[in-house]
Amino acid sequence: MTSAGETSRKITLTINGKSITVTEGTYLLQAILKAGFTVPTLCQHKDLTPEGTCRLCICEVESGGKKEIVTSCNYPVRETIVVTTDSDKLKKHRRILAEMYLGRWPNVEAVQQVAKICGITDGSRFRSELTDENPKACILCGHCVRACDEFVLQKIIGYAGRGIKRHVTMPFNEVDPHCIGCTSCAHVCPTGAIQIVDDLNNPVNPDLIRRHGMKVNAEMARLDEDQNRMREVGTANIVEVMDAYDLLPVHNFKYGRHPDTSKISSNVMKERYFTQGASDACWLGCSMACCKAVDGFILKTGPYKGEKVIVDGPEYETAAGGANMGCFDLDFIVEYNFYCDTYGIDTISFATTMAFVMEAFEAGIINTEHTGGKKLVFGASEEVLACLHEVAAGEGFGVEIGQGVRRLKEKWIKEYGADPGFLQDIGMEVKGLEFSEYVTKETLAQQAGYAMAIKGPQHDESWLIFIDLVNNQIPSFEDKAEALYYFPLFRTWFGLLGLCKIVWNDIAPDDNSKYPPQEAAKIPEHVENYWKYFEGMTGEKLDEGKMLRQSERVFNLQRVMSYYLGYGRRKDDIPPLRAIGPVTEEEYLSRQERYDKQMKDQIGVDPEGKSIKEKLAILREFRYREYNRVLDAAYRRRGWSKEGIPTSDKLKELGIDLPEVLAMLEGTGSRKL
Ligand code: SF4
Ligand code: SF4
Ligand code: FES
Repeated sequence: MTSAGETSRKITLTINGKSITVTEGTYLLQAILKAGFTVPTLCQHKDLTPEGTCRLCICEVESGGKKEIVTSCNYPVRETIVVTTDSDKLKKHRRILAEMYLGRWPNVEAVQQVAKICGITDGSRFRSELTDENPKACILCGHCVRACDEFVLQKIIGYAGRGIKRHVTMPFNEVDPHCIGCTSCAHVCPTGAIQIVDDLNNPVNPDLIRRHGMKVNAEMARLDEDQNRMREVGTANIVEVMDAYDLLPVHNFKYGRHPDTSKISSNVMKERYFTQGASDACWLGCSMACCKAVDGFILKTGPYKGEKVIVDGPEYETAAGGANMGCFDLDFIVEYNFYCDTYGIDTISFATTMAFVMEAFEAGIINTEHTGGKKLVFGASEEVLACLHEVAAGEGFGVEIGQGVRRLKEKWIKEYGADPGFLQDIGMEVKGLEFSEYVTKETLAQQAGYAMAIKGPQHDESWLIFIDLVNNQIPSFEDKAEALYYFPLFRTWFGLLGLCKIVWNDIAPDDNSKYPPQEAAKIPEHVENYWKYFEGMTGEKLDEGKMLRQSERVFNLQRVMSYYLGYGRRKDDIPPLRAIGPVTEEEYLSRQERYDKQMKDQIGVDPEGKSIKEKLAILREFRYREYNRVLDAAYRRRGWSKEGIPTSDKLKELGIDLPEVLAMLEGTGSRKL
């Protein structure tokens, strides 16, 4: 760590007669290094909070006429001071300390180096019965103890014993089952006293993997609190962010915010629900540990009513699904989360389907006769849970809901005479998969990101809302097409490797903004981490070109298969109107000022005197036109035809023009799911 909480105040100090200016709170050791001087260190580590235990980094500090000796690694600069790093007195102190360390650990390389810096060339006078000849002996630097605490939020290893008996150990000198095996402690150990003995994956270069894993660990420890609070609340942090940006789906994606969002915010989840550190389905060794759990939750409904359970979640999309159904009640959200998990039902598909059902109910397309007596208006949380149990049991109206949005539309049109146009506009599915829980109406790139995704509107492929809408990093159609080329390929690539998305961009290096905006969106240093994981496992070096080619081969094969199954043409990449603009009058009115302005500025139509109905029609036409332009640009960039089909030239270029693959291009829908 380089500072103890910086402010913007600048302080000028003098080090060995040289003037240097640093930010208030900077540790003196950093100022010394910045000024071009050095002092020996043993217990300091750049990514850990300094402890000041080895005392090798001591300096003289003069302030207000008083002189004192301080350990520079943990001394925050708060005022103008005069510093001396190399007086005879300091050198003598350091020499004695270094000689003592060398007497105790004569063969440890880190100690030998420090002794050499301190001028000890002929061994130590302080050898005794404590002398440990092991070149990998523990030198009590404390790096491991702090890494476990600061990177993993655990205290699995700590100090035990006093004085000469002080040593580092797990509780009761036994292997602690709570150790997540993250290897952070081994990585920061300067002597090799902690070693990883069995890596079942047998990587080619485990050190390379660990080095780059540690970069993420260190960023988590330093930056997460000020960035996305992933360790504290996980993806639930996005609930209030989406609401603030008008992007939280409310009432079947009609609106993007709601006054009751505060009731389901991450702060409420943290204060009243989450249990930190509860075991969940994710990898135990992850220092981000973004998955949260609710422990001791008593169920109110269903087959386990009255039982106390652990609920894995809720994550953002589950909570946002609650908002989409108009249910701003965390007890409900946790319960529907539990039962979806238990029944093996996806919370997103369920919530989006229910939101569609609720809108259809409120619009009079279905009524209580169809729903088995349930009044399925927005916010009807008890009825939603009743439906969920029916879906799982295959009973009543649940049989219909369980089919999903696409089949509900077909049934209601055929059997209830519902208006096909309206159902198509509000039914939030593409390729038969329900939309994920984000409002995409104002971001062209994400509309395509969802609707073009091979398996339907989810963001395994791309999530471009912030870079398109909020940060405006991809303004032109070509920029959007480039993003729709790169991100699906990158995400497909790391998904195939089994790497998690969260440590790629839910934490970013603090200097990530040094890249131009479109590059910054890729988080280049974290992409490089992933290449290094690949290289560490396989021994093969990667760069962007190689990675994209690996992915493009798979991605194009997936698209060909999708086409073969009847889901891979332009018409299959077209989203419902609700995903790209307002459908109903109330929806238009909720953002009237914005839509009127767009009509004037972007379409060149004066909204004055036009009815809402007319404005809706103008907007629909404009937005589908714009959407199709993005689609054209994205297909071009991907080397696909205007129909969105990989060309045989493209397949040849990728080396996947095998007879079996080309045969699949012979007819869409040749094989139906
Ligand atoms: S492996 Fe990780 S959790 Fe286990 S003791 Fe080391 S730092 Fe702590
Ligand atoms: S085990 Fe390694 S990191 Fe931990 S105190 Fe000993 S030398 Fe330092
Ligand atoms: S490096 Fe400062 S006390 Fe050890």
